[in-house]
Amino acid sequence: MPKSLPARIALLIAFCLTIVAGGYATWLYSTRSGPSGIPSFTGEGSGTALVGGPFELLDQDGQTRRNDDFLGSYMLIYFGYTYCPDVCPTTLNDMSQAIDLLGTETPGKAALVTPIFITVDPDRDTVEALADYAQHFHERLVALTGSTEQVGQAAKAYRIYSQKVEDESASSYLMDHTSIIYLMGPKGEYLTFFPHGSTTKKNKNK
Ligand code: NI
Repeated sequence: MPKSLPARIALLIAFCLTIVAGGYATWLYSTRSGPSGIPSFTGEGSGTALVGGPFELLDQDGQTRRNDDFLGSYMLIYFGYTYCPDVCPTTLNDMSQAIDLLGTETPGKAALVTPIFITVDPDRDTVEALADYAQHFHERLVALTGSTEQVGQAAKAYRIYSQKVEDESASSYLMDHTSIIYLMGPKGEYLTFFPHGSTTKKNKNK
């Protein structure tokens, strides 16, 4: 049976992320061992959609964006926060490079994929903060925030864990959070995920 378009896109994205991250195995199977780690997430499940659902958030231009707005395109979704010192920027960088690589490898396909960043730290990640942050990554990156409730609903739909961690030395706080890139299909359906962890970081260009 020939592979469906969603399956082919998933494979292409996996390929691109692999190249960017520098190793298929490390990219796909490493887990982050932070203070609380990430919740166990054992795989692609039984085929039922355990991940995804409605959200209503604001993008970096202050426009309301709902999950339905992205129907018809693939979503690469990553939850994080702009104050994240390491994992979030690395992951967003990898996502951006993967989209560009996808465009190089298969012209026309990259436009089908929308990279999306959703904050887990709406207190600090205002629309303005996201506008500033997003420009460091992909030009098509959609960065989303909202009220605590709106962000909480989105995080819940995507099974994202996050928690404030006070950082004594920095007189601010960090967010411990699940670090997973989801690939969602054109009907909003869950296709696959790409876990990322600090251990996979490669010195790509440094
Ligand atoms: Ni982070």
